[in-house]
Amino acid sequence: MTRPSTRSRPIGVFDSGVGGLTVLKELRSRLPNQDFLYFSDTARVPYGRKPKEMVCGFARQIVSFLLRMQVGGIVIACNTASAAALPELATSTPVPVWGVIDPGVEAARRQTRTGRVGVIGTLGTVSSGVYQRKLEALGLWVWAQACPLFVHVVEEGLAGSSDAQALAQHYLSARPDIDTLILGCTHYPMLGPVIQRVVGPSISLVSSAVVTAEVVNAAWEPPAAGAGRVTHYVTGDPLAYRHTAHFIDGVEGDIVPLDVTRLDSLP
Ligand code: DGL
Repeated sequence: MTRPSTRSRPIGVFDSGVGGLTVLKELRSRLPNQDFLYFSDTARVPYGRKPKEMVCGFARQIVSFLLRMQVGGIVIACNTASAAALPELATSTPVPVWGVIDPGVEAARRQTRTGRVGVIGTLGTVSSGVYQRKLEALGLWVWAQACPLFVHVVEEGLAGSSDAQALAQHYLSARPDIDTLILGCTHYPMLGPVIQRVVGPSISLVSSAVVTAEVVNAAWEPPAAGAGRVTHYVTGDPLAYRHTAHFIDGVEGDIVPLDVTRLDSLP
């Protein structure tokens, strides 16, 4: 699938905010020589409560920008954008495009022992029904819960706070008997310790970041040598982005602020 000419190009990765950095981290550990462009649309986060057509429009705009930056492949490191736009973008984009939902479903299938799986995500992801359809098609029983405030907590750098714990209790206390819980939003791995405390050790948490990186790694031929640079394009406040990203792994690489109102004419 990878064209030889795309080999030396960067891979574009995007999310509404810092959540996709959880995917980027796994990608970089598998593809150390590879350059990445990470697009963080913090001026318009959260995507989860916005109409599907609006999210599709954002995703199209970001993909066009990344193509103008000469990427050789694109990872939609956002469940909400994957749910809304992956089918369209996968067929209309001239480079490979990967989403995070199929990898998350695959990880849950591998992990569950009882066949009873939960999925938490944004309102957009949960109401799209995409996880439910894909999991049920594999014969699994599914419980789905939207957790709209989680993204704000993570973006504010409060993932380890008592507020995060109270919210997790609020969203997860009515869960039925499941043995696997998919973190169906790339922001949620940051809340992993809090969520695990609330649901207890008998439920295993699934993050799509690892499996997504495995899928990309299997399909992509990286450069044999290279610096493995990351450039971050940020539509919101770059200082706030650096501050929040610090809670994941810090931000290695340059941060380039972008004016989202001029995105169609950039660079
Ligand atoms: N990380 C995005 C996702 O996986 C966040 C969604 C949002 O911006 O609401 O869905």
